Amino acid sequence: MTGITSREIHLVSRPEGLPSADNFSLVETTVEQVSGQVLVQNLFMSVDPAMRPPLSNGQTPLNEPMTGGAIGKIVASDNPELPVDTLVLHRFGFREYFASDGKGLQAIKVEDEPLTTHLHILGGTGLTAYGGLLVTGALQEEENVFVSAAAGAVGSVVGQIAKIKHCRVAGSCGSDEKVDYLINELGFDYAFNYKTTSISKALHIGLPEGIDVYFENVGGAHLDAACGQMRPLGRIPVCGMISAYNNKGARSEGVTTLSNMIYNRVTMKGFVVYEFNDMREQFLTDMRTWMAEGKMKYQETIMQGIEQAPAALIGLLEGKNTGKMLVRLSEAG
Ligand SMILES: NC(=O)c1ccc[n+]([C@@H]2O[C@H](COP(=O)([O-])OP(=O)(O)OC[C@H]3O[C@@H](n4cnc5c(N)ncnc54)[C@H](OP(=O)(O)O)[C@@H]3O)[C@@H](O)[C@H]2O)c1
Repeated sequence: MTGITSREIHLVSRPEGLPSADNFSLVETTVEQVSGQVLVQNLFMSVDPAMRPPLSNGQTPLNEPMTGGAIGKIVASDNPELPVDTLVLHRFGFREYFASDGKGLQAIKVEDEPLTTHLHILGGTGLTAYGGLLVTGALQEEENVFVSAAAGAVGSVVGQIAKIKHCRVAGSCGSDEKVDYLINELGFDYAFNYKTTSISKALHIGLPEGIDVYFENVGGAHLDAACGQMRPLGRIPVCGMISAYNNKGARSEGVTTLSNMIYNRVTMKGFVVYEFNDMREQFLTDMRTWMAEGKMKYQETIMQGIEQAPAALIGLLEGKNTGKMLVRLSEAG
């Protein structure tokens, strides 16, 4: 079979602090599909904060195609189980085409929803919010909930699930436009711009009775402020700490309020999304129902073309996305 020209993103040097465009390279290559393989054309790829620490800690190899969640379409097939036109979810992002023996490809069935929702609200992002809030956070109806990075992919789902559960919800985010989005589009009770407001003061205003569940996406000053305002038997599901990801060793700023965990018997627990894999069916049923009822909205920030993938990752770390950051890898997407 003949080869096809493809472009892919390589990491060529390890960033210190915020990555820059010259840490990455756009490389042209030829993809050969051999006997028994399928050829996949990528349509969209996901851009995730978790991609940042491995750029510096050595886990992302230099001078090889980077990896990450993506959706592709099978455009040639020598595998009867994966015929042409099958849509597949996989981890071979940051490239336009690839050949595969089928390992690591998960066929997806798209109903009425836009394809891209499988990379966020109906995919790992949504499950992270759902499991992290309901299982790790053990959310109860009518509690007081604070979520940081609230206008992002995970945070926006967390806030809306909490509203569905009749909670009072406050969110933090990095711009006044995002504050407006959280309150007026997503129905948050309170939101504030952490870049221009004291987090601690804002939490006293937004959740004057204190916080039952703090869904932690940011770390550092956010955790410092929230931990000091946790109510008795409060929970802090630790999803991420993006404020630390550009730091050496992803080390976060110090937190000075941990003694409140003793007085108020607060639980802080980290989690990873794969813990919730066995809830996927219930999660999808709930999310589809909430979407159909208009209770679960989403936004996407989509950059165009593989050459924009590094800018999308850098932009995510600078807060340029509202909702899910994606890159469209093909006009067919
Ligand atoms: N545990 C898991 O299994 C799991 C799975 C998925 C994601 N996560 C974590 O969940 C969090 C959110 O991920 P996501 O995919 O939904 O990303 P996202 O929230 O859509 O995008 C990241 C957002 O973080 C904010 N941010 C960036 N630097 C910041 C800083 N120094 N301080 C405060 N906010 C900052 C920016 O928004 P602003 O404009 O508001 O600054 C940016 O838009 C991340 O910490 C991620 O690592 C964990």
